[in-house]
Amino acid sequence: MNFNTSSSPNQDLEPARLPSHVAIIMDGNGRWAKKRLLNRIKGHEKGVEAVRATVRACRELGIANLTLYAFSTENWHRPKSEITALMTLLKTFLESEEKELMENNIRLNAIGQIERLPGDVQQALHKIMTLTKKNSSMLLNLALSYGARDEILKMVKEIAKKAKIGTIDPDSITSELVCEHLYTKEIPDPDLLIRTSGEMRLSNFLLWQIAYSEIYITDTLWPDFGKDELIEILKNYQRRERRFGKIES
Ligand code: IPE
Ligand code: IPE
Ligand code: MG
Repeated sequence: MNFNTSSSPNQDLEPARLPSHVAIIMDGNGRWAKKRLLNRIKGHEKGVEAVRATVRACRELGIANLTLYAFSTENWHRPKSEITALMTLLKTFLESEEKELMENNIRLNAIGQIERLPGDVQQALHKIMTLTKKNSSMLLNLALSYGARDEILKMVKEIAKKAKIGTIDPDSITSELVCEHLYTKEIPDPDLLIRTSGEMRLSNFLLWQIAYSEIYITDTLWPDFGKDELIEILKNYQRRERRFGKIES
């Protein structure tokens, strides 16, 4: 298979200043296929290869947390045939990655409405999450049937219920308490958000968590994304000054 594992000049990267969490909106599979007069599904198949290359690259570079937006709550409105193909690809991916994730000490986690996924996909997901749960070199976090507004609504309902029965005092609700009720409760906020295929929008991804993320949008279509471009983006990230509202230090 044509994985993008070419060795890249990454000596200019400062290991101590790597983002601890990279989140990616993997967009452009359909356009990649259309450009080649292929079926959209071929684009998604090629997109899986870019996922493998990106996971490998992040592990090699030492990124501790990688979140990939693979399927949104809005994506349920696509044609049934495309949804079925995406779910089949997802299941095959989960089954095929066991060895590589174990060998590389990578933990797989999922965020989103997992209960909406087909039963066999849920089973494959639980199997690999259980298998990899003690792995500690990197977290691969897949956003599946994920929508930030859904996540925020879920958090509001949980906190409101606790307030109603008296286990939470509404006056003492903090940002930390909100974070504890999000899918991402165990993960730091993304330092870097990447979107492929040039769209200047967030498409309902991690709205709370990206409050201070650095954003990088590339025109590259997701199936063409790989390690070399990731390194260039990380170099760009390391040249930025993150001020968090303060003045230059
Ligand atoms: C991203 O590629 C994959 C998913 C959203 C599942 P698209 O399928 O959105 O590709 P484009 O945007 O049509 O090119
Ligand atoms: C965002 O891509 C969702 C994922 C990458 C899973 P979309 O292709 O669904 O987003 P829009 O429709 O262009 O906003
Ligand atoms: Mg798209």
